[in-house]
Amino acid sequence: MTALDTRAVHAGRDDLTALGLHVPPIDLSTTYPLTDLATSGAAYDRLAAGDGPGDGSLVYQRLWNPNVARFEQALAELEGCEGAVAFSTGMAALSACLLATVAADRPHVVAVRPLYGGSDHLLSTGLLGTTVTWATPSTVADAIRPATGLVLVETPANPTVELVDIADVARQAGGVPVVVDNTFATPVLQRPAEHGAGLVLHSATKYLGGHGDLMGGVVVGPADWVARLRQVRAVTGALLYPLAAYELHRGLQTLPTRIRAQQSGTAKLADWLSTHPAVDKVYYPGLPECDPRGLVGRQQIGPGAVLAFRTSRAEQLLARVELITHAVSLGGVDTLIQHPAALTHRLVAAEAKPGQDLLRLSVGLEDPDDLIRDLDQALA
Ligand SMILES: Cc1ncc(COP(=O)(O)O)c(C=O)c1O
Repeated sequence: MTALDTRAVHAGRDDLTALGLHVPPIDLSTTYPLTDLATSGAAYDRLAAGDGPGDGSLVYQRLWNPNVARFEQALAELEGCEGAVAFSTGMAALSACLLATVAADRPHVVAVRPLYGGSDHLLSTGLLGTTVTWATPSTVADAIRPATGLVLVETPANPTVELVDIADVARQAGGVPVVVDNTFATPVLQRPAEHGAGLVLHSATKYLGGHGDLMGGVVVGPADWVARLRQVRAVTGALLYPLAAYELHRGLQTLPTRIRAQQSGTAKLADWLSTHPAVDKVYYPGLPECDPRGLVGRQQIGPGAVLAFRTSRAEQLLARVELITHAVSLGGVDTLIQHPAALTHRLVAAEAKPGQDLLRLSVGLEDPDDLIRDLDQALA
């Protein structure tokens, strides 16, 4: 098999030469011409059941779109899974997993905190008919019940970039599928399916897109789950817009290079912050005390490009940064900083909410010395 960097450039593009094209054509059609009713009806049935179009009509964008399918194929290849299903946002991707497990009459979810605040809130409210038991990485087995349909973990987790041992959680889950939110690591640094995850989820809004100009979500996994999730997508309608799928497919080509460059700057910032007198604690998997199980190098190739830190000057820093943008989201080419307790994790229950002194930093592609200068003046 070719290396990941090579696959990132070429995946989902096998048919282009035969089409006489160098880059994928963009297809924005909402509907497609039909032939006779019997053939068209059969195509509809196939797509609504979650299968591919074969030689038949694509019928309607909510059932199939070529740009979305190309991105899905490419990401499935990078994650080493049978298929992928893309959605309008990361939250839509998680919602589809929850709806599928409720539909299968397994509405109980075991979830390991911390999670992204939106995911935590969706599970806490039970809005989609799920119930949740919150677990730590070592209490997953105790939390499993006959009605448990999914186990959800993030690693690295939002916002404190804590790492979870995926193989250990999968072992504790027994036969229950483990969904790993791989948004922070991306398949460049970690392929959860290789460690026993049943499903891999991404907010594609973040690193996969990489430029802060699109929203998307995607679930990668085995063929039976792919078909089930396509059915959920077809009836609930949380589609990825084809133009966003085109951008995501293009974004994958530079993903390995972006991740490595952003990661190298982050390591420098983590070291610098660790020695700053106004910083009380730095959370970054590259710091030995933040990776007690030695998962960097074993489960995750590198520590990534997000870090968090505690400072009593959090509010001052946010008001003073100049080069760095005070904004939610992460994973883009420019550096963003935000206050989880006030923003991304605002809706999380008090007992699990991050502290008021915690900031999360998503490091971009700027020269790290410029970022250090900005943080230095903002902390002064
Ligand atoms: C780890 C993680 N998962 C899921 C989501 C939700 O993704 P989206 O904002 O694309 O709906 C986010 C958003 O910040 C996230 O950080």
